[in-house]
Amino acid sequence: MNARGHFISFEGIDGSGKSTQARLLAEALRGQGREVVLTREPGGSAGAEEIRNLVLTGAGDRWSPETEVLLFTAARRDHLERVIAPAIGRGAVVISDRFADSTRVYQGVGRADLRPLVDELHRLVIGQEPDLTLLIDIDPATGLARAGARGGAEARFESFGLGLQERLRAGFLALADEAPGRVVVIDGAGAPHAVAAEVARVVAARLT
Ligand code: TYD
Repeated sequence: MNARGHFISFEGIDGSGKSTQARLLAEALRGQGREVVLTREPGGSAGAEEIRNLVLTGAGDRWSPETEVLLFTAARRDHLERVIAPAIGRGAVVISDRFADSTRVYQGVGRADLRPLVDELHRLVIGQEPDLTLLIDIDPATGLARAGARGGAEARFESFGLGLQERLRAGFLALADEAPGRVVVIDGAGAPHAVAAEVARVVAARLT
């Protein structure tokens, strides 16, 4: 982990329960007296939240996959500059609900084979990985049912259907194989408190 703060991301397909887990971990670490910055992508800073609104609402074909990569990366750069880097610098634990792995998977394999563009942009303007990424793994049909039950206006990605969610899950699991030192796969099928206990165990082993 970083000499100063710590950077943890949660990843997973839509409806995996990662947002709940990010919140529960934040509460647990705060209970231990740590400063925790709980944040999310796309978004997490004022400018990035504006980009979030552009990219997650409207028709499925509102943006091309290439434009999406640029928008997500622009949002991430702002989030990193204004929120993540300063928090790590002062010794906080940053917990981000999604980070660069989401772009690698959603834009890199989910909708079009844009992984080289995603990787090159990441290298040029982001250049930072979390110390630890918790991949909450869930069966896509279960995830989609959970996400659908939630409703709301931000359903552009969920509207692409089960086939996409299956490709996304495979993409996330492949990333975990690519970066085994950073990405830990957590079974998301259990009750929230059971998944949270597993998350807490993994994090306790890494946080110093
Ligand atoms: P999120 O708010 O995490 O939704 P959920 O809680 O349903 O997982 O993310 C919103 C959507 O944005 C989600 O469908 C994934 C997508 N996304 C990308 O396609 N690329 C990215 O780089 C990020 C961060 C998110």
